[in-house]
Amino acid sequence: MSRLVIISNRVAVAKARGAAGAQGGLAGALNSALKKFGGIWFGWSGEEVEETTGHIQLHTNDGVTTATIDLSKHDVDEYYNGYANSTLWPLFHYRLDLTEYENETGRGYERVNETFAQSVTPLIDPDDLIWVHDYHLLPLGERLRARGVKNRIGFFLHTPWPPARLFVSLPYHERLVRTMLEYDVIGFQTDEWLGSFLHYCEKELGAEVDEATGRIAFEDRITHARAYPIGVDWDHIQEQCGTSEARQAGQRLLASTRHRSAMIGVDRLDYSKGLPERIDGISRFFDQNPDRVRDLIFIQIAPPSREDVGSYQRIRAELEQKTGQINGARSEVDIVPIRYVNRGHSLAELCGFYRASKICVVTPLRDGMNLVAKEYVAAQDPEDPGVLILSQFAGAAHQLTEAVLVNPHSPDNLSRAIRTALDMPLEERKRRYASMVKSVREEDIHSWTANFVGDLTSLGVDHVPV
Ligand code: G6P
Repeated sequence: MSRLVIISNRVAVAKARGAAGAQGGLAGALNSALKKFGGIWFGWSGEEVEETTGHIQLHTNDGVTTATIDLSKHDVDEYYNGYANSTLWPLFHYRLDLTEYENETGRGYERVNETFAQSVTPLIDPDDLIWVHDYHLLPLGERLRARGVKNRIGFFLHTPWPPARLFVSLPYHERLVRTMLEYDVIGFQTDEWLGSFLHYCEKELGAEVDEATGRIAFEDRITHARAYPIGVDWDHIQEQCGTSEARQAGQRLLASTRHRSAMIGVDRLDYSKGLPERIDGISRFFDQNPDRVRDLIFIQIAPPSREDVGSYQRIRAELEQKTGQINGARSEVDIVPIRYVNRGHSLAELCGFYRASKICVVTPLRDGMNLVAKEYVAAQDPEDPGVLILSQFAGAAHQLTEAVLVNPHSPDNLSRAIRTALDMPLEERKRRYASMVKSVREEDIHSWTANFVGDLTSLGVDHVPV
């Protein structure tokens, strides 16, 4: 059996606490895949140093080996804060208004991808399967091929892929996608993002594309692009729900809401998550239902993210201002309608909060998948499940069709959805839950890993070095 070499910007260890618990799920799944196949997980240590040396730090913990490198402040600025998070992230989330196009950060991005390739290559054995993750590392496969790596290399994009008409606003877009076609398998979260990628390859690159199979023939290369919707670790969430940490967290929340219904949101503080729009929708609900103000408490957990990037500093300020305004206008001596919590929580605590919340609101303006939606469903009590309000623009909406689907841009739509959720009879909650839980349980993180690795094994081919 081949070993697995996983390469991502960040190396997450099993007990990592992701902003939304989600990273913990992914970390757990990839860790268990690594335990099964053997291999290593390579990435940036998260440390900023004076100079990038490419020196590898190896750690083995519980059968999983991680290999990390430090990056210089200059590299972090250009590669991570710059091209990855000020160019590709906003562009991939359809935010041309926030997308910055700087050749210099583009060069830094290419330089760090080259550093990754240089450092990881000596760790790769000839039979290893290589699995690269996310928008930070789009050209890495091509950089590895340039170093003579002939292994099967797969790539999974955790974010959306934008429609071709948006993507072509990126200078050198063609060069970037050409590098991606050095991968054997490219995975997307949904058919929608896959379709946009295939369309781009056909219309802009002139590749031969078979939409039914996702086979892309370009110059002398064949790549297979497919959708692999990521899932949560069902068993792990059930375990976490049963812990005393989860029970205590749930009790704390219930005790503090004093018989009012709790509605929860859990998001990294990111403009793609639609947080100000969500507050507007809640405010509209209070305006339209003055008799219900005392029925609802909204709890927004939003750990800050990418704090050195200007657009993230602005969204944080905007959210603080809006929350403050509504609380100022709507609070009574014994009620604060919105609780805004700026820190992350463990998955166990989140499980407790999810179960104690009658409603979960997940309203990104655009999201590759959104695992909070799936975590919430997985954490519900089957006898008294809560209601999920979900943006139609989240990848998860393709599977969780029985959520209360909303247009996150419309305050009226969200206001109506909150009312529907608050008033939803038990029978209807159970019916919707039964449909959603089936997909969350069956299409879990382990089947995602197995499907991707299975395709990489069967569809990948042996390569001639470039
Ligand atoms: C998204 C990305 C991940 C990233 C995570 C946290 O989910 O798809 O690649 O790791 O956000 O963001 P950060 O910039 O803190 O790694």
